[in-house]
Formats: sequence, structure tokens, C-alpha cells
Amino acid sequence: MKAAIILCAIVALSECLLRIPLNKGKTARESLEEQGLWEEYRQQFPYRPMAKFEDFAVGTEQMTNDADLAYFGVISIGTPPQSFRVIFDTGSSNLWVPSVYCSSAACNNHHKFNPSQSSTFRNTGKSLQIQYGTGSMTGFLGTDVVAVGGIQVPHQTFGLSQSEAPFMAHMQADGILGLAFPRLAASGAQTVFNNMVQQGLVQDYFSVYLSSNSATGSEVTFGGYDPSHYTGNLVWIPLSSETYWQITVESMTVNGNVVACNGGCQAIVDTGTSLIVGPNSDISSLNNAVGGASVNCQNIANMPEVTININGHAFTLPASAYVRQSNYYGCSTGFGNGGSSLWILGDVFIRQYYTIFNMSNNYVGLAKAV
Ligand SMILES: *[C@@H]1O[C@H](CO)[C@@H](O)[C@H](O)[C@H]1NC(C)=O
Repeated sequence: MKAAIILCAIVALSECLLRIPLNKGKTARESLEEQGLWEEYRQQFPYRPMAKFEDFAVGTEQMTNDADLAYFGVISIGTPPQSFRVIFDTGSSNLWVPSVYCSSAACNNHHKFNPSQSSTFRNTGKSLQIQYGTGSMTGFLGTDVVAVGGIQVPHQTFGLSQSEAPFMAHMQADGILGLAFPRLAASGAQTVFNNMVQQGLVQDYFSVYLSSNSATGSEVTFGGYDPSHYTGNLVWIPLSSETYWQITVESMTVNGNVVACNGGCQAIVDTGTSLIVGPNSDISSLNNAVGGASVNCQNIANMPEVTININGHAFTLPASAYVRQSNYYGCSTGFGNGGSSLWILGDVFIRQYYTIFNMSNNYVGLAKAV
């Protein structure tokens, strides 16, 4: 088996979300590049969370940026607390972590939750299975207190894994914390964010800032937003579906010409996917319009902007934002084949646009990130 793999999540709607992994001390991307697998991986798997209101808390969770490929933070579960690294994923809706009942290789090199060491744990008796592109995780649902972003969420349902697919051994994070809508949650599990809101802990929106290049500084803010991380006005986009954070895109243009998403398309705003992903033919067209998927690193300054037109507003991505630089393989665009009609506006987009995910009015707010 190859040493570095991908966590490709087929959540309820059979969309494949790519996540990144790693070997100790190295980013997933570095490991792949060293083994000469990065390009192959990239082609094959292109996919890859303050304004304050009285009485409500605002919880800010710092996230670590792993080579611009995945963003994860530390949460704790139980009494006394047991800590886990989780990917904050707006493209799925379950929280799960490895458990002591799992002896898969993937569990053995990650932190495992031990329910017998938590005085507040309750077993719900419900089983859980989440299907990923390269295998699945199975387990069961329990409830316990979850601490995330400084907020204690009592009686939170979460998955305890009993088996995990081998590729999960290469994930840097122990588990995943899904921030999409409850309808996407496997086994009908209540989502962490909805539970926070229903318990009156926070207001019903959260915001995400993804740093570029720097490992630190990324954050997800529950029940608040951070004006120091954006400039200009927030633009509000209505959701077209409350499953994923799904919106309608009007078109994608380069130098004023429509090159992709002609006539409109559906897209999800997904922190758990590293690239911008779309249908193969649209991605080819987009790459052609900017000069090809492989890029001369010296030429970035001369490459055109890509504009994503949404609800009458133009969201531009300069080449410096959509070109990814690698010490091993040079430069390539961050546009990946998805094979599905659903576009994914992943981290390549979100790094440029601070995003407020508002469940109160089912809008996402976008503003230029700083
Ligand atoms: C979220 O939507 C509600 C309802 O429209 C609105 O009152 C609130 O201000 C919005 N949140 C933010 C951060 O704009």
C-alpha cells in the first residue's frame, strides 16, 4: 500500500471529499512528493471552521494549516477531557473520533477515546457507518460533553470508531467534526453546531478564516465573526440547498469570457476540500483559459484572474491564489476534476474569502479575507 492516501468522504450525497493525511513530521504533500506520487495523487484525487451578542458566547477555535491542504483544531470529549485533533469540515455533518474498541492500524496511531474513563459518557446503542471513497469507518454513537473553541457542549452525540479503513492511518487529524446541515448526518446524529445553538450557547452562525502559507492563524468562530479578518463589505448569498452549504454560481470567467459553469451551476463551500473541484470538461476549460494545469512558476504574475460570479457579484482569484507551488514539482493550478456536476469551492477559494455560514437565514456571507 502506498504510504500516503486520501480520506475521500462520500457522505450522504455520494460526493467525494478529499482530505489529507500525513506521515509523522511531514505534511502529506511532502510525503507524496518525496515518493513521486504527488502529481498522480493530485490528478486522481483532486478533492480533496467578533461580533458579540449579550448572553451568547463566541467560541474561537484555532486551526492548524497543514501545507494549505487541510485545516484541523483540537477539541476535547468527556470528563475529565480527552483531546483529539479534528478536521473542521463544512462538507459533512458527523463528529467522530477513534475509540479504544478499535484496533485498526488507523486507530492505533491516533488518540482513542476511552468511554470508561469519562464519568459523563452515555452509549446510545446506535451504530454508525460513514462511507469514504477509499473505505469506511464503522462504530457506534455515544453522548458526552464536547469542548470546542472554549465552549462546553453537554450531551453531544458523536461517533466512536470500531474500525477504520487503512488509509485513515495517514491522516494527521484523529477525527472529523462536520459543520454541514443535520440532514447530511449519518445515523441521524445531532450536529455539534446545531446542538450548541439549540442549547442556547451561541447564535446560529459560524465563520471561517483560512490562513495562507502560515501554519497558524486559521480559525473557526462559533456564534461570531472576526472583522479583523476581512476587508470591504460582506456579500450575502442565499443557499440553494440546506444539506451542504450549497449555492448557485452564475458563471466562471477569465478575461471576460465564460470558461466554465456556463449557464449556471451548483457549488458547495467546503473547508474539507483543498482545491476548487468541478466537472472534468469545465476544469479542462478553466485550466486551458489560464494557460494549462501545469504552470511556470516564474509566470504567475502574468497569469489572468479567474472570476467566479455569484448572485450578481464577482469573486476574483488572482493566480497567486489559485496556483500551488511545490518545491518538488513546480507549480500547478488548484482546479481539480470532480467527475460530478457539483462544484466544490474548497480551501483555494475560502482562503481568499472570509466566510460566514449563517443557519438563521440560510445564507453564506463572503468578504475579501485579510
Ligand atoms: C444571520 O441571519 C440573521 C437572520 O437574517 C441575521 O439577523 C444575522 O445578523 C445574520 N448573522 C450575521 C453574522 O450577519
